[in-house]
Amino acid sequence: MEQLPGATVNLLKGGVGKSTIALNVAERLANRGHDVVLVDLDDDGHMTMQLGYQDAYDREADLGGPLLEESDPADLLVDTEFGFAFLPSNDDLETVEDRLKSAQWSDIRFRQNVVEPLVEDGYDYVIVDAPGGRGKLSDNALIALQRVIVPLIPGAGSINGLGTTISRQIVPIREQIDLDVLAITPNRLTETLNQRNEDRVLVEHINREFPEYTPDYARIPEETFDAMDRNELPSGELPKPGIRKRASISKAFKRGQPVAAYDPDCDQLPHFDHLADLVEEAS
Ligand SMILES: Nc1ncnc2c1ncn2[C@@H]1O[C@H](COP(=O)(O)OP(=O)(O)OP(=O)(O)O)[C@@H](O)[C@H]1O
Ligand SMILES: [Mg+2]
Repeated sequence: MEQLPGATVNLLKGGVGKSTIALNVAERLANRGHDVVLVDLDDDGHMTMQLGYQDAYDREADLGGPLLEESDPADLLVDTEFGFAFLPSNDDLETVEDRLKSAQWSDIRFRQNVVEPLVEDGYDYVIVDAPGGRGKLSDNALIALQRVIVPLIPGAGSINGLGTTISRQIVPIREQIDLDVLAITPNRLTETLNQRNEDRVLVEHINREFPEYTPDYARIPEETFDAMDRNELPSGELPKPGIRKRASISKAFKRGQPVAAYDPDCDQLPHFDHLADLVEEAS
């Protein structure tokens, strides 16, 4: 199966930064002159609300139309002021997910009826904010784009959840088709890594277990971990891997803006650019 251009951001549940990353990666790609569609496939509709499309969330026409082969996804697109088109989530997406369960070809509907038509219409990249956890919509997103960015935040359960998700959700899809993990990105980091804090546990785990999926801004050489443990690194040289917790990231999201629009000087913006590079290079 030919890989379509774009990526999905998902896998894990609850507030890890899926929507934030999807929004900012879409904006970074659009900023480079690409025609981009950002799709909110998360039935919680958080991003749709944040971006101010409450009306679209409540409207009758919804993603269920194309998913159930009743309409054209292009009819659902709205323009944003940030250079990309947006396909909003909808109140009815949850029932669509239920209806899909009993439909034929239910895993490739999003690919065939939404992403392929958009690419045929000339869009260069489709970026999907997909629901966390397992489910029809989440599987549809993975299968449609065959590329995933996985955000993780420090703290309880994050790492265990990752192992289980990879074995239950990625591995079975990979038995059938290619599915590239573009990055497992730590998000909302606050600490330096010289103490055994949750940030260190997360970053060390990603670097050791998934070196090929560690984005540049989170990569820490083994020698650096050793040097920190021997207290040999001066405080100015302690690593502060990204994506770090920044007020401007959360404030931008609260206002329904990508970081580049709200605070173009945000020191974490280059990390979203790096993720956009990974999408570009892979597509
Ligand atoms: N790097 C960051 N710095 C500061 N705040 C952040 C950062 N990343 C995410 N946030 C904030 O954390 C909250 C959760 O992020 P987001 O909504 O993107 O996560 P999600 O995985 O999409 O969550 P949900 O499961 O609710 O859809 C939001 O308020 C967002 O603004
Ligand atoms: Mg979200």
